[in-house]
Amino acid sequence: QQKIKIAPSILSADFARLGAEVQAITAAGADYVHVDVMDGHFVPNLTIGPMVVKALRPHSTLPFDVHLMIAPVDAFAQEFAAAGADIITFHPEAGPHPHRTVQLIKSLGKKAGVSLNPATPLSVLDHLLPEIDLVLVMSVNPGFGGQKYIASATDKLRELRRRIDDVSSRQGGRPIDLEVDGGINEETARIAIAAGADVLVAGTATFTGGPDAYAGNIARLRG
Ligand code: DX5
Ligand code: ZN
Repeated sequence: QQKIKIAPSILSADFARLGAEVQAITAAGADYVHVDVMDGHFVPNLTIGPMVVKALRPHSTLPFDVHLMIAPVDAFAQEFAAAGADIITFHPEAGPHPHRTVQLIKSLGKKAGVSLNPATPLSVLDHLLPEIDLVLVMSVNPGFGGQKYIASATDKLRELRRRIDDVSSRQGGRPIDLEVDGGINEETARIAIAAGADVLVAGTATFTGGPDAYAGNIARLRG
C-alpha cells in the first residue's frame, strides 16, 4: 500500500479567511488542496469559481485538486487550468463526451480525474481508465459537506482498486489515484483505506477545532 494522501476540502473552511485556511492546512501536512466547485445546476449549491482559485494559488505550494460539479465542463476547464488547478476532476454525467473532456484537460497540461456519484456504475470508466490520473469515488451525493458516508462506496473502492492496479501495471506502473470524497472521519477513513483508497478528501474532519487542531486532525485520518 502506498502512502495515504489527505486532501482537505476547503468547502468546510472559513470562507471569510480562505487564504489563511489554505496556508494552515499546508503547514498542517495536507497533501492536496481539494476545491469543490458547484454551479447550482449540476448540484444544488453554489461555491467557488476560477477567480477564487486564482486568488488562493499563491497561498500554497500543494497541488490544487479541483473537483468540478458543474455542467457543462469543457467551457470552464481552460479557466480553472489558467487559475492554477493541477488536477481537474469532472463527473461524466456533466456532458455528452467525457473522453473529449479528458483529452481537453490533458491538452492543458493538467491531470485529469473522473468522479463517480453514488449511483454511477464503474462501467463509465471502461474506456477512460487508461487515460486518466485519478478516480474520485463519491461516498455522499455531491453538493454539501457534512453528510454521512454511504456504505456502498466501500465495494466500489475495492473493485476499483483491482481495476486500477490492473491498468496501472499494464502501463508500466503509471500512477492513478483512488480518491474518496464525503463523510470521511477517523472511522470511515479506516474502512476506505482498507478497501484501497489512497487519497482521502476530508472537509468537516479537517476543519474542526480551529487552525491549531488541523495537523492532528490530518494525522489521525492518515492513520
Ligand atoms: C461534496 C464535496 C465534498 C465535501 C466533503 O459535494 O465534494 O468534498 O465537501 O465534505 P465532508 O468531508 O464534510 O463530508
Ligand atoms: Zn469534493
